[in-house]
Amino acid sequence: MSQPASSLLTVLDLVPFGQSNGLDTQFFALRLERPSWTAWKPGQFMMVRPTSFGLDLPWGRPFGICHMTAQHLICFFQVVGRGTQRMAALKSGDKVQVWGPLGNGFAMEDKPTLLLAGGMGIVPFIGYVHEHHQPWNLTMLFGHRQPLNCYPVDSINERITVDSLRESAVGDLDNLIFSLRERMADVGEQNGLVLACGPLPFLKTVQQFALELKVRTQLSLENKMACGVGACLGCVCQSTENYPVAAKRNWPVQVCTHGPVFWADQISLD
Ligand SMILES: Cc1cc2nc3c(=O)[nH]c(=O)nc-3n(C[C@H](O)[C@H](O)[C@H](O)COP(=O)(O)OP(=O)(O)OC[C@H]3O[C@@H](n4cnc5c(N)ncnc54)[C@H](O)[C@@H]3O)c2cc1C
Ligand code: FES
Repeated sequence: MSQPASSLLTVLDLVPFGQSNGLDTQFFALRLERPSWTAWKPGQFMMVRPTSFGLDLPWGRPFGICHMTAQHLICFFQVVGRGTQRMAALKSGDKVQVWGPLGNGFAMEDKPTLLLAGGMGIVPFIGYVHEHHQPWNLTMLFGHRQPLNCYPVDSINERITVDSLRESAVGDLDNLIFSLRERMADVGEQNGLVLACGPLPFLKTVQQFALELKVRTQLSLENKMACGVGACLGCVCQSTENYPVAAKRNWPVQVCTHGPVFWADQISLD
């Protein structure tokens, strides 16, 4: 795997998603020139800092590596605050400092693998389905609140079928939770693998089912980050007695350097 490197990359373009809703879009695919990384793993992330952050925003922001091809690196983001607002104003030719690839990434096995994405948790699975050499072993359940065209599902649909459930009415969440459990139980019976990325309540539900059904499950956390390199301790989560490094059992571990992907029985989300 590539050692993390800092690269000053040129913006190729910024493509808005979900504009057909008649509202200002909050969702963008940012296409950057390809960095010099020799390798990366789906589930890894990068710290992104456009030069337009100036002195106002000293820290970069963490984003999943959506996909990297021979020509470009893609970051898919939702506008939620000051940094992502500035990113939504980027234009072709602007410069962005990118530090990566960071973190560990998801397991890839020749076994039935269920991908569980909640909202922006879809991002690392775009690279995952493109890099996996047995796409026929992959299935995906995608829970989301915004209309489907806000998310880059088409690039996943090229390789596998995505079952999506929109949470827009009372009862939709119960349906999603019911489907999650059913699909996880099914994959567990085949000794398969479950990978999940999404907001904390979503991950807590997946973790609860993983432990109850004893299904091998990895969770990708999106804790707030500042340095991205293990120094500030701003991103820690609590490990359990099952954590593989003895000295770190029942101890806070940095999500940026020890994660962002963890086995469900090795961390506590409470
Ligand atoms: C490993 C990792 C991968 C990520 N991948 C993506 C991705 O692919 N696409 C994407 O859109 N976002 C992703 N995020 C979340 C993204 O980093 C935050 O949305 C971003 O940092 C917010 O920056 P801001 O300056 O716009 O918001 P701020 O002004 O810093 O905060 C505004 C709001 O966003 C919330 N926020 C800040 N950081 C996070 C966070 N880490 N997770 C959730 N909410 C947060 C704050 O609580 C606040 O309500 C990822 C986070 C991590 C840790
Ligand atoms: S973000 Fe600083 S230690 Fe993880």
